[in-house]
Amino acid sequence: MKASEKNNKKQLRTAQGLQGLFEAELKDIYWAEKAILKSTPKMVKNATSEELIAALQNHIKQTEGQIVRLEKVFEAIGIPAKAEKCEAMDGLIKEAEEMMEEMDPGMVRDAAIIASAQKIEHYEIASYGTLSSFAHTLDKMDVYDLLEETLDEEKETDSLLTEIAESSINYEAMEGDE
Ligand SMILES: [Fe+2]
Repeated sequence: MKASEKNNKKQLRTAQGLQGLFEAELKDIYWAEKAILKSTPKMVKNATSEELIAALQNHIKQTEGQIVRLEKVFEAIGIPAKAEKCEAMDGLIKEAEEMMEEMDPGMVRDAAIIASAQKIEHYEIASYGTLSSFAHTLDKMDVYDLLEETLDEEKETDSLLTEIAESSINYEAMEGDE
């Protein structure tokens, strides 16, 4: 292990037991949600399609609610709400931001924004799926319900983005019709 890695040791890698792993994953997604809340307005600014803009704006509100829900989970398990940097989400967001800077406005960029947003959604779906499964195993049913609620929202957002892409944006991007 390199020294730089040692200094950057995440709690995720030193977690004790399933409870410890659950807590570490929770801190990871808490960081990720906050990062998403900060970056989604940039997607709104760069999007052209009104339908996409509306979906992203709705997603910002939803993310605010999901952060509050995570804080309830921290409270329920009796630990302070703490974010721990998620390198994967940081990378996904950086890629999205670089792409938006480099591309011209229009439907191709909108299609790329949807692609980025869905990569982010899928990370969240994987995280909340794991967390809710851990909560179930640990017999924390109140926490399980909270996590399932968010998991359903993430899946809905993902489906909505697919619908927007496939019903109009992808075709318009192909035709070069802005
Ligand atoms: Fe989320």
